[in-house]
Amino acid sequence: MILYFSSTGNSRALATTLASHLGDKAVDMVPLLDAPAVPCELGANEPLGFVFPIYGWSLPDIVRTFLQRLRIEGYNHQYVYFAVTCGDDVGVADRPIRRVLADAGLHLDAGYSVCMPDSYVCLPGFDVDKPDEREEKYSAFGPRVKEIAEQVKRRAVVMDIKRGRFPWLKTNVLGWYFRKYLITDKPFRTTDDCIGCGKCVSVCPLHNITLEGQESRVKGQEFNIQWHGHCTGCLSCYHHCPTRSIRFGKRTEKKGQYLYPERRQL
Ligand SMILES: Cc1cc2nc3c(=O)[nH]c(=O)nc-3n(C[C@H](O)[C@H](O)[C@H](O)COP(=O)(O)O)c2cc1C
Ligand code: SF4
Ligand code: SF4
Repeated sequence: MILYFSSTGNSRALATTLASHLGDKAVDMVPLLDAPAVPCELGANEPLGFVFPIYGWSLPDIVRTFLQRLRIEGYNHQYVYFAVTCGDDVGVADRPIRRVLADAGLHLDAGYSVCMPDSYVCLPGFDVDKPDEREEKYSAFGPRVKEIAEQVKRRAVVMDIKRGRFPWLKTNVLGWYFRKYLITDKPFRTTDDCIGCGKCVSVCPLHNITLEGQESRVKGQEFNIQWHGHCTGCLSCYHHCPTRSIRFGKRTEKKGQYLYPERRQL
């Protein structure tokens, strides 16, 4: 079983491609989060994979919450691995991931990372990838997933991740500050271009957004979009908005949007 979380679609693509190589099933964590506990049954020789994006050189809070609620039935030291997507590198994210899995009663055997187009845009100097960078990552994606699938089939015990430079500092100092102070929905606002389509409301994995005035879809009409303080920082609302009218303070005015191609059709 592969349990995945994805905002802009990269990790979903990784989970479903990996599942097809392994003859496994990919299950979205988000709908399961509506229940206070998540029971999952594992077969005797079935590997258990967790696929999600890296946020601030660590795991997203939404994945942490999911793992805290997960109740695996039939776990008898089957192969447990994570496969994460990142724009650049993951630091020492394997350490918090290993700890959270241990708290859930699971022993981590392996970890893999895959570089995919960047979705983070909320700080100066951070933007979506240029088309040539994006295409380069897409061309490496297929062979990389095949390589990971081969290792999972062999039940390889490895930490095959791209740590980058100063990995400890990134996860434990920069990342700690980032996750504590910059994962927030306080700066979100909308511009007059909002057409009240409700996409931001429907794509938020935490039901954190409400919209009033949805019945009249006229550009320029005032819509009351509210964020309610339970944000995991995934930027799904920002990237899915068809009129680019969601802003994160003043920092995203000139920034781009990104969605994995399949995700654009949702
Ligand atoms: C809040 C946030 C933090 C991020 N932090 C990192 C990071 O620390 N390192 C990195 O390489 N990419 C980082 N990224 C980029 C994502 O990990 C990357 O684009 C990922 O593939 C997105 O996955 P998804 O399309 O499944 O949502 C971050 C993205 C967001 C939204
Ligand atoms: S997705 Fe964009 S246009 Fe649609 S309601 Fe939300 S902010 Fe408005
Ligand atoms: S409010 Fe936006 S950034 Fe926050 S969790 Fe919802 S979709 Fe993600």
